[in-house]
Amino acid sequence: MKRIGVLTSGGDAPGMNAAIRAVARTALYKGWEVRGILHGYRGLCNGNMINVRTRDVGGIIQQGGTWLGSARCPEFRTEEGRRKGLRTLHQNEIDALVIIGGNGSQQGAYALSQMGFPVVGIASTIDNDLYGTDISLGVDTALDVALVAIDSIKVTASSHQRAFVIEVMGRDCGYLALMAGIAGGADYIVIPEVEVDPEELAAEVGRVYERGKAHAIIVVAEGAKYNAKKLERFFIKNKARLGFELRVTILGYIQRGGNPGAWDRLLGTRLGAAATEQLALGEYGVMVGLLRGEIAPTPLSEVVANKKTLDPDLIQLVKTLAL
Ligand code: ADP
Ligand code: F6P
Repeated sequence: MKRIGVLTSGGDAPGMNAAIRAVARTALYKGWEVRGILHGYRGLCNGNMINVRTRDVGGIIQQGGTWLGSARCPEFRTEEGRRKGLRTLHQNEIDALVIIGGNGSQQGAYALSQMGFPVVGIASTIDNDLYGTDISLGVDTALDVALVAIDSIKVTASSHQRAFVIEVMGRDCGYLALMAGIAGGADYIVIPEVEVDPEELAAEVGRVYERGKAHAIIVVAEGAKYNAKKLERFFIKNKARLGFELRVTILGYIQRGGNPGAWDRLLGTRLGAAATEQLALGEYGVMVGLLRGEIAPTPLSEVVANKKTLDPDLIQLVKTLAL
């Protein structure tokens, strides 16, 4: 191994910079050269990259986002696009690639490894929908950001005796909503994995009002059938049953842009170092993640073939606690 590449792809996630830094410094420590590919697979297709030296990655560990830039790159989903990417790697004499990203990015990584190129993935997405890791890079910080918002909203909700629907990200996975809802003390959580009857939900909110509670907080996943906009429309039509006045807040991208907390800095650093060690061992075609407290590799073939599921005990816990 003489020269490796590293890229960040898909939705950015807090902690990506810690991972880039760890990949670069672990590789440089081994005497390898490092190329940082800019804006994910788009940079790979266009040959857009920079030389990374040890000082270049100084001062980035505490920053959110990604120093290398990221992108959604439809071209890389095509055979032709992937061939272009492979050509870039060969022309620049890059021996192996570390791919930091979520579900789609790891599918791209698997496709490249199927073409015979040595790759190692790093599990990174705020959605926590990746098989092969208990928690992916960025989730913890995204949750903290969501909780700051939920706590603040609760304060004003109580002052005005209002019900709030708060929508969090997560694409079609309910993990962020479930965990933010539990940790934020929500009264209800609406996630794609569990069918919700809006009539029943409105009746429940009404019962909360009658019990004299100062507020009702409903945390909704953006991917739920009844997302914030749809619930709002339904609730406005059924206003009388709610009791509370209703307000809606969509948290959106604020959840992705936070500076990484201690957990994500450490996880990114451990995953970055582990990915580089995998390359040194010649063990390619895997994604590194955190499994039962240990950094561990999972074959990319398994990562892309399996769906991560939510813990049913946690779903039940929400019901138990919503008194
Ligand atoms: P994330 O990695 O955060 O889940 P996306 O799903 O948008 O984000 O995927 C990031 C990028 O990975 C896509 O823009 C595309 O370039 C690449 N990608 C996604 N799916 C595939 C696939 N099936 N084959 C090849 N590349 C893919
Ligand atoms: O995958 C991370 C994520 O933030 C999802 O939660 C969200 O659905 C999506 O990315 C938004 O994508 P984009 O940044 O392309 O608008």
